[in-house]
Amino acid sequence: MPALPPHARDNSDMRNRRTFLAVLAPAAFAALVASPAQAQGEVLKIGVILPLTGTLASSGRQIEGAIKLWLAQHGNKVAGRTVQLIVRDDGTLPDTTRRLAQEMVVNDKVVALAGFGITPSALASAPIATQSKTPMVVMAAATSAITEASPYIVRTSFTLPQAAVGIAEWAAKNGIRKTVTLVADYGPGFDAEKYFAERMLLNGGQVVEKLRTPLRGPDFAPALQKVRDIKPDALFVFLPAGQGAAFMKQFAERGLDKSGIRLIATGDVTDDDQLADMGDVALGVVSSHHYSAAHTSAMNRKFVADYMALNKFRPNFMAVGGWDGMRVLYKALEASKGAGGDALLAAMKGQLFESPRGQVLIDAQTRDVVHDMHIRRVERRDGQLWNIEFDAIKAMKDPGKLR
Ligand code: DHB
Repeated sequence: MPALPPHARDNSDMRNRRTFLAVLAPAAFAALVASPAQAQGEVLKIGVILPLTGTLASSGRQIEGAIKLWLAQHGNKVAGRTVQLIVRDDGTLPDTTRRLAQEMVVNDKVVALAGFGITPSALASAPIATQSKTPMVVMAAATSAITEASPYIVRTSFTLPQAAVGIAEWAAKNGIRKTVTLVADYGPGFDAEKYFAERMLLNGGQVVEKLRTPLRGPDFAPALQKVRDIKPDALFVFLPAGQGAAFMKQFAERGLDKSGIRLIATGDVTDDDQLADMGDVALGVVSSHHYSAAHTSAMNRKFVADYMALNKFRPNFMAVGGWDGMRVLYKALEASKGAGGDALLAAMKGQLFESPRGQVLIDAQTRDVVHDMHIRRVERRDGQLWNIEFDAIKAMKDPGKLR
């Protein structure tokens, strides 16, 4: 039977329901299958909703890979209880995310919701977290305002204002004055455009044109033609994970890589998932982000090696958001002794820990992530392209929360 298009899939169908039972060792698998001694109420269920198909499927695949690794290394017992991950595909469709969140809360009685690949999916689900008092860990979506959509949201990804301010600071210090911005036409793109422009202006630079491309099926050609005509010192770009390679291809095809116009970006564009396939056009691109697979800590080296051994692809920033989200959930469940609701939420706030990205704090007031914003340059090392970190703004709070 041919694969159904994502929108035609019935996600309530058990056939589409993934749990991570299958990735566990046989003994752990047997332990997870409900036995008479193990009443339903004893299992701690976590509902994970990801875009495993559709426009941003690469983010779902990255986070799923991180959750599998977390489970393989940390097992499925927390506070003496068995954890069961229920993973569902929303097809990158916010209405589906919302319906799945509702089903997980009402039918599965999950103790927490997690995942959320795009901003509209996180925003659509926020009222369900609020109404049911279910903590919701946003592992991917990155518009600043998401954490304000529900007091039960905790974020382990990043925010676009953090990334945009990071690269704007670098640009101003490196002689870039006249810029054009190009962003995906939705929430995180608006944040990137606004915070980049504000910081450029503050530092004496300019944004002479603001261009946007659709989230679904973008064609960068018209925007790139405008950039070529305007000839700014630099083009600043934000596109969601998974769109960087297509953009780079068109940038090179139009000869913009040889035009003297510098390309600067948030790290979503020089996405580690796609970087290896981007080719020479990506060399020298400077970006700002919270995670690079080339981060030099011992913890990250182990994380990348283990992740690649298990999943056979390089982890990107989405994977780290997923990994850290599991950490926050496990530690909080330990502290709450498996209780959900407000006790679980309280145990997530203020967590401070070492992540493969560096140090992470879950700000107790904002429930948002505080971490180093690294400045990186794409370089070839041992035949492969990497985002090599060379500077950082330390312990950066979300600039979107500072006004
Ligand atoms: C969002 C999605 C992405 O893939 C990304 O890289 C940044 C932000 C979002 O929808 O919030």
